[in-house]
Amino acid sequence: MGVMNDPLTNDLFPQALLPVTLQGPADLEGFRRAARALLARQMLPEQVSWHSSDTPVQDLFASPIAGAVAATTAIHNAAFAYAPPVGVPPEFVTLCETAILHSDPNRFGLLYRILWRLAHEPGLRHDPLDADMVMAQQMAQAVRRDMHKMKAFVRFRTVQDETFRSNPGGGPLHVAWFEPEHHIAEAIAPFFARRFTQMRWAVLTPERSIQWDGAQLSFGPGARKSDAPPPDAGEKLWLTYYENIFNPARLKVKMMQKEMPRKYWHNLPEAVLIAPLAAGAHERSARMVDEVPIGPTRRLPDITVLPVTMAPDEDSPVSSLEQLREATNHCLECPIGACATQSVCGEGPLQAKLMFVGEQPGDQEDLQGRPFVGPAGQLLDRALDELGIQRGQVFVSNAVKHFKYELRGQRRIHKTPSQREAAACQHWLDDEIALVQPGLLVALGATAARSLLGRAVPVMANRGRIFERDDGRKVLVTLHPSALLRMPAEGREAAYADWLADLSVLTQQPQD
Ligand code: URA
Repeated sequence: MGVMNDPLTNDLFPQALLPVTLQGPADLEGFRRAARALLARQMLPEQVSWHSSDTPVQDLFASPIAGAVAATTAIHNAAFAYAPPVGVPPEFVTLCETAILHSDPNRFGLLYRILWRLAHEPGLRHDPLDADMVMAQQMAQAVRRDMHKMKAFVRFRTVQDETFRSNPGGGPLHVAWFEPEHHIAEAIAPFFARRFTQMRWAVLTPERSIQWDGAQLSFGPGARKSDAPPPDAGEKLWLTYYENIFNPARLKVKMMQKEMPRKYWHNLPEAVLIAPLAAGAHERSARMVDEVPIGPTRRLPDITVLPVTMAPDEDSPVSSLEQLREATNHCLECPIGACATQSVCGEGPLQAKLMFVGEQPGDQEDLQGRPFVGPAGQLLDRALDELGIQRGQVFVSNAVKHFKYELRGQRRIHKTPSQREAAACQHWLDDEIALVQPGLLVALGATAARSLLGRAVPVMANRGRIFERDDGRKVLVTLHPSALLRMPAEGREAAYADWLADLSVLTQQPQD
């Protein structure tokens, strides 16, 4: 096939490359239009040089030829608008959409070459080992990986900006800094808008900044790391949480670096802990193995089973939290109470408008006698912090007031309470609700949802939904934070983002 003369360029400058300048490094529409037009004019891939803001035309005025050719580009760009569509396999369109975001300056040339070849080599679409196709696939895969990492490793910090100061009810601005490898900022923005619909946020990157005002996405120029806010209190909580969930016996450095590559560490608050925790892991796990198994010590004297006649009197509900604590400490309406260290009742202001209900106290809660103080509590605290809700303003409790566990060696492993056990505890929870009178309750997990709504509510199918109880109180159903902690590290951040999105409904609800 001979080289076609392009009426605009090649007649005048047969040796010159035709520079095509796109509007930005991820200008798919511009690329599509230009490629169609070039193909219609039978411009060989080798005759075109592609440019965008990341690969500008070099030496534009260095030679009269280059200058003159550059001048023709504008004419071409106008002509591109009228190019006819080209029939290509749909997989190629999908491949282009992703591979074009790669940072390799040769990506446009490669994709145009494939387009050209698809039009002229019918066998190409059936050749999975073709070098050009393989290279484009690899680019697309690298872009997908970069997007995945951005979803997992973006860390927001709260800023009390002007909008927050004039309307604190709207919640603070959340700002994150991230350095993607490829040109993914605009492509990934809708993901963050969906995940954090109820929050105002901005993600700053060196190339683009993305902003969501709660209703609309907008894009601005790139930023510097120093434009993002410094670490805040929420970050300290994240570090404590990370320290808590770190299990030295399960440390697999290679695996961890695969999931959380070193290049992301400098923007991850928890990364400062990795080296010291990893260095001490061997010693800590050896100590764990050597320790003689011991059961937890009960702080209360042994309890004898109450005769049925001493079961709580339903007609005289408790009138204070102290009374509730005292009564639950002696409750033996189900077997769990006999093994726990103490009962754990709800905590928070009695006039709180918002009440969180979990499943049952965990190991730490059982020892400290306070709800949500262990790892799940720290994750809950982080979420509250990011939503601008103060933990001291909400009431936090559980459906079941004692810790149910199974002893494995020296470890007490959480066991889900049975429906009968939760039902036996129901009246204590009702007492708490009657004392606090919250307008809005949050059911963290299935046990809490059943206790608050009186029937089984599948959590995954109903997460983020608000139900109304018979007494008119509203109940938001979502996952229990422990469910997030149990997830593989890979998906944990994305799951946390979903959870935060469920909870962000709270900032918009009247709680009276
Ligand atoms: N899980 C719960 O459900 N409640 C707590 O208090 C702690 C962990």
